[in-house]
Amino acid sequence: MYYSSEKIDEVIQAVDLVSLIRQYVDLKRVGSSYKGLCPFHVEKTPSFHVNSEKGVYHCFGCGVGGNAINFIMEMNQMSFTEAMMDLASKHGVKLPETSNQKPAGVSKTALYEAMNLACDFFQNNLWDKNDLSIQQYLKDRGLKLDLARSYRLGRSLDQWDSLYKYLKSQGVSDKAQVEAGLVRARSGDGSSGYYDLFRNRLMIPVSDAEGRVVAFAGRILPGDANPESAKYINSPATTIYKKGHLLFGYHQARAHMRAAGLAFLVEGYFDLLALVQAKIPNVVAAMGTAVTQQQINLLRGQVKEVYLLFDGDSAGQQAASRSLPSLLNVELDGKVMTLPEGEDPDTFVKKHGAEGLFQAAEKAEDILGYYATRLLATHGETLAGQAKAIREAKEMLALVPDAAKGQLLRKLLADKLGLEPSVFGLGFQRQKPHYEPPPPKPEPTPVQTAHARCLEILAHIIIHQELAKNLKDLTPYWPQDPSLAIFKALSQQYEANGRIEPEKIHIEADQNLAAWLSEALLTPRKYKAEKAASIFKEMAESLVLLAAAKKRQALSQEWEQAKQSGKQEDIEKVLTELQNLPSRWQKAR
Ligand code: UTP
Ligand code: MN
Repeated sequence: MYYSSEKIDEVIQAVDLVSLIRQYVDLKRVGSSYKGLCPFHVEKTPSFHVNSEKGVYHCFGCGVGGNAINFIMEMNQMSFTEAMMDLASKHGVKLPETSNQKPAGVSKTALYEAMNLACDFFQNNLWDKNDLSIQQYLKDRGLKLDLARSYRLGRSLDQWDSLYKYLKSQGVSDKAQVEAGLVRARSGDGSSGYYDLFRNRLMIPVSDAEGRVVAFAGRILPGDANPESAKYINSPATTIYKKGHLLFGYHQARAHMRAAGLAFLVEGYFDLLALVQAKIPNVVAAMGTAVTQQQINLLRGQVKEVYLLFDGDSAGQQAASRSLPSLLNVELDGKVMTLPEGEDPDTFVKKHGAEGLFQAAEKAEDILGYYATRLLATHGETLAGQAKAIREAKEMLALVPDAAKGQLLRKLLADKLGLEPSVFGLGFQRQKPHYEPPPPKPEPTPVQTAHARCLEILAHIIIHQELAKNLKDLTPYWPQDPSLAIFKALSQQYEANGRIEPEKIHIEADQNLAAWLSEALLTPRKYKAEKAASIFKEMAESLVLLAAAKKRQALSQEWEQAKQSGKQEDIEKVLTELQNLPSRWQKAR
């Protein structure tokens, strides 16, 4: 916690929480707040709430929650400091320079900056330096230069370390360059210098959901002398780039996908660019063959249908089939569009235009039917073939954890293949272990109980704010517990202003506590004042009881010790303390 609470407030005030979260979640307005599908767990009915007035979000399904900073921490796996720096830089808030600000490694903010500078550098090489040969290449491929520019395409130079030198001149440390996956050390410790990972390539930046460049793909150039070169070189995984977690073009496509209610999912960068150019902006690319669950999760909540538009070859067909479990898991309708042999979405849309693509979409096959047909076609009707098909289907079914859905799918596949559902295994019946008694609940430790009780009391006060006047009475009884920070903050607010402002309490160190607070903030009033007060009285009593029990325990230990030592003065001290216990405490016995 290196920032003053005023700074933290300033950052939170600067962020519009709803627009921030909208970059990840399709939020619908309900009354004074917003609701959507939780981005942190899989669900089909929205239990993720955002209240921009209070500046908090909370998922009543999985319990995550907090303010804008907590959201960024959770979403981007950032530390508090990183999340502060990230939000501050995006919203023009100046942060004080503090010496402990920099974590040991390279901060994510520094990596974003390095990637963005690299992107500028590549763009500059292509556009400002007017690289006519690549521009011609793009034109020859039928790509409009304006579009190429808007996707920030660029080029890496045919030199060993031009990017390295540029980044260095811009103050990017060697370490940051390496950790961003942009350069490599020539020898282990970097003592013999660094070289660029991307050289002499057409550069395609890959952005995250917030539009920050987090990776690059470098496509081989048509005149590349080395026939061994890979077609694409891709950024390695880094702390800001998890492979398989992003969809290319997602940031640009999101609003369009949502408006259309459907998304086209293609494989390649150029497929995507071709569709966008043909005025089909609701398209994302998986960047390779295996579509991951994380990628499908990005579409969940944005669209109802996903049109899989892969190459007509067998790899493309396999890719389409493989995405079936992921789609099922989040209840998205998958449609498979089969393109003619030898065509990919890029060539197809150039030949037949958007109209042609929409016609093909009309004819798209439901992914389930597609899957079954393909199983049958590839494995035929021979016994061996069927056995193979069954094995393959079983593997796929294993990826559908929802038992009911798995059963349904078994039945559907069995129907299509003319088999008994049981050939795919018994599904959840088999997976269900024979009855095992639930493990005995561990006795709650007094610490847990105290913590839970404290949170319950605080939540009650936050929900029924007129009870804040009683905070002071509780001060002597509040235990040493993580909730003490919130208790103190509320008490101070009440002392100062005669009311509490729980939305102004920021919890950076403890995501659980932050989630708890957001839940309390979003819980509507439960009881009328009178009932709330009587419940509060009971709660307060129980806290007093707890404190009394603790004090007694401590005193009885001291009493034993005093007896053992036989020192008269110790014995008397304990006795006095016992006598001095307030009468309520005595009663509590
Ligand atoms: P394609 O070979 O279809 O590439 O691979 P493309 O992007 O359509 O390129 P053009 O049209 O031949 O110029 C589809 C996707 O698979 C990934 C890339 O994401 C590519 O866009 N890929 C392919 C790689 O990552 N590495 C490779 O070597 C090849
Ligand atoms: Mn292609």
